[in-house]
Amino acid sequence: MAHAPQHQHQHQHQHQHQHQHQHGHPASAHPRHSDPTPNGLPEILDLDAALFAPHLTALTGRIACLAGDDVRHIVDLGSGTGTGTFALLERFPAARVTAVDSSPAMLERLTSAARNRGLGDRVRTLEADAGAGLPGVVDADLVWASASLHHLDDPAAALAGVRAALRPGGLLAVAEVDGMPKFLPEGGGPGELEIRCRAALDGLHAERLPHRGADWGSLLAAAGLSVEQERAERWEVRAPLPEGTGRYAFLFFERIRGTLEGHVSSEDLAALDRLIDGGPLDVRHRDDLVVRSTRETWLARRPA
Ligand SMILES: C[S@@+](CC[C@H](N)C(=O)[O-])C[C@H]1O[C@@H](n2cnc3c(N)ncnc32)[C@H](O)[C@@H]1O
Repeated sequence: MAHAPQHQHQHQHQHQHQHQHQHGHPASAHPRHSDPTPNGLPEILDLDAALFAPHLTALTGRIACLAGDDVRHIVDLGSGTGTGTFALLERFPAARVTAVDSSPAMLERLTSAARNRGLGDRVRTLEADAGAGLPGVVDADLVWASASLHHLDDPAAALAGVRAALRPGGLLAVAEVDGMPKFLPEGGGPGELEIRCRAALDGLHAERLPHRGADWGSLLAAAGLSVEQERAERWEVRAPLPEGTGRYAFLFFERIRGTLEGHVSSEDLAALDRLIDGGPLDVRHRDDLVVRSTRETWLARRPA
């Protein structure tokens, strides 16, 4: 679902910075190694791609500035439903993508979406643990890893595999998200509820996804990659809200409601229920949502 960037109110704060806070993905409010087709996750990934399409366009544009036009082979590491795959196929018309994911369900959905878009012949899927190297993948011009590296058991070992898969001079793009997105108006009860939920989720993620919030710049350098850009951008989507915003918020709150059982107060759980119960406060028919998310990116090159 595409929408014009003018439907969005965007604030970007771009700066070189040290990472003190947690990273994750809107979809990562679930235990690692859980059901490979967790409820709602593929749809959340697709809605996120649509909502933050301007961010993706800007990011692939920055990649093109560094990579040049002659990008033929791209690897999408932890591809999910193909957000990166499709954005990069559009940006680099001569390229084909190897989409790597450990979840067969994600790869099936990606394959079907590629076929529907008439891109089937430009996409190959590889069901594999991206943490165990990328056997048979060599001479990649570009590796894209969005919200996936923090899922791996040993990201440092995985980055060594990425380096080996890149051609000399090839680029790695890493994207991570700064914790859960926010949807509710700031400064009142709902905004404070989100702050408490976010804190509880951060605590759970610290146990379940210990590499969330890793110092990716240092890990990239340690893997022998030269970091050329590092950015944090705060994106905001306000009214008039693009189609799918309420659905995205609904799926998100439904997902974290289960995860947070026993980790926030019963009053907060009841307040979460009111956001998804079809009543007057349900996020699917509110017009006061403001989606806020900080997206962080690193662009690094394998030295020639
Ligand atoms: C949060 S999703 C991100 C998907 C996509 N890159 C995006 O930005 O929308 C993380 C993805 O990493 C995949 N994943 C998790 N652990 C993995 C592993 N060890 N090897 C390969 N893929 C993995 C999951 O199946 C999921 O599709």
